[in-house]
Amino acid sequence: MVESPDTDWTDVRLHVVTGKGGTGKTTVAAALALALAAGGRKVLLVEVEGRQGIAQIFDLPPLPYEERKVAVAPSGGDVYALAVDPEEAMLEYIEMFYGMRRAGRALTKMGIVDFATTVAPGFRDVLVTGKTTEAVRRRGKNGRRIYDAVVLDAPPTGRIARFLNVTQEVAGLAKVGPIKNHSELVNGVVKSRETAVHLVTLLEEMPVQETLDGIGELRSAGLPTGCIFINMVRDSLLPQAALDTAVKARFDPGELVLGLKAAGVADGAQAVAMAEALAEEVAEHAHRTELERAERESLAGAGLKSYDLPLLADGVDLAGLYELAESIRTQGAA
Ligand SMILES: Nc1ncnc2c1ncn2[C@@H]1O[C@H](COP(=O)(O)OP(=O)(O)O)[C@@H](O)[C@H]1O
Ligand SMILES: [Mg+2]
Repeated sequence: MVESPDTDWTDVRLHVVTGKGGTGKTTVAAALALALAAGGRKVLLVEVEGRQGIAQIFDLPPLPYEERKVAVAPSGGDVYALAVDPEEAMLEYIEMFYGMRRAGRALTKMGIVDFATTVAPGFRDVLVTGKTTEAVRRRGKNGRRIYDAVVLDAPPTGRIARFLNVTQEVAGLAKVGPIKNHSELVNGVVKSRETAVHLVTLLEEMPVQETLDGIGELRSAGLPTGCIFINMVRDSLLPQAALDTAVKARFDPGELVLGLKAAGVADGAQAVAMAEALAEEVAEHAHRTELERAERESLAGAGLKSYDLPLLADGVDLAGLYELAESIRTQGAA
């Protein structure tokens, strides 16, 4: 284990990553885990939605319900991954608290596990979050934590506050006994300063709105908000002055015609047609940039730190994942 580097989130051990579906939750969680592990640390990446997204992203066969090393971080450091299976988590739980492994198996056969997890989704959640917070708290023989950090690829923004607010969700279910004790233990970690809930968004209206709503819900539930990862950010292709002109629809295709001719790209009618098509694209690009600027302003209103992650032109392969991790590190997020 190496000393914690000085980053914006040095004291955080549990990084919960949420966001609207499709914005890059799994991708950002994986990149964050790599970034946190860089330089010789040990990080666990947990997935809870049963999609095997982590295996896919690291180009591996489906993960068993078991912590396994999935990647080596830049300049050393290991990323382990765990795909939590709620049913297995329930059996483990039954064994841990009642010493009834075999009874647990019988309960599965009888469908009671299914029953309990569908009738009481709060119970299912507390098992999954319990598994995660156990990894956060786990210590080795020397008394030191096994993992320097745990990153949770969490449910989407619309469900995150309920998912993490475990004591609330099981309150009606268990007033006393091991479930209550367990949920209070989980709650202790989730609401502590060691936890931060990060939100992934795109600079588009719907995900930004969901992000702002999510932040509001997290805050009213007393859950610790972290940062905003603005994913798939595109570089602006033109200087601001050109964009301003284009937005006001005063972009002159005539100038483009001259430019195309001068560069020897096209001539005559072809140059005119090309210039018109280009002018349209410029206007579109300018319009989008303008909308993105507005979305950025709305996000800033939430008062959280934010980091930009670039849109990777070739999609997210392993190399792309390391590129995102590097971007997270250079911005000081990890
Ligand atoms: N920065 C990025 N650049 C390019 N493609 C991205 C980026 N982030 C995510 N993606 C792609 O977007 C899609 C959704 O990402 P994923 O992480 O699976 O989202 P989620 O977990 O939120 O559903 C995937 O195909 C992923 O490869
Ligand atoms: Mg995902």
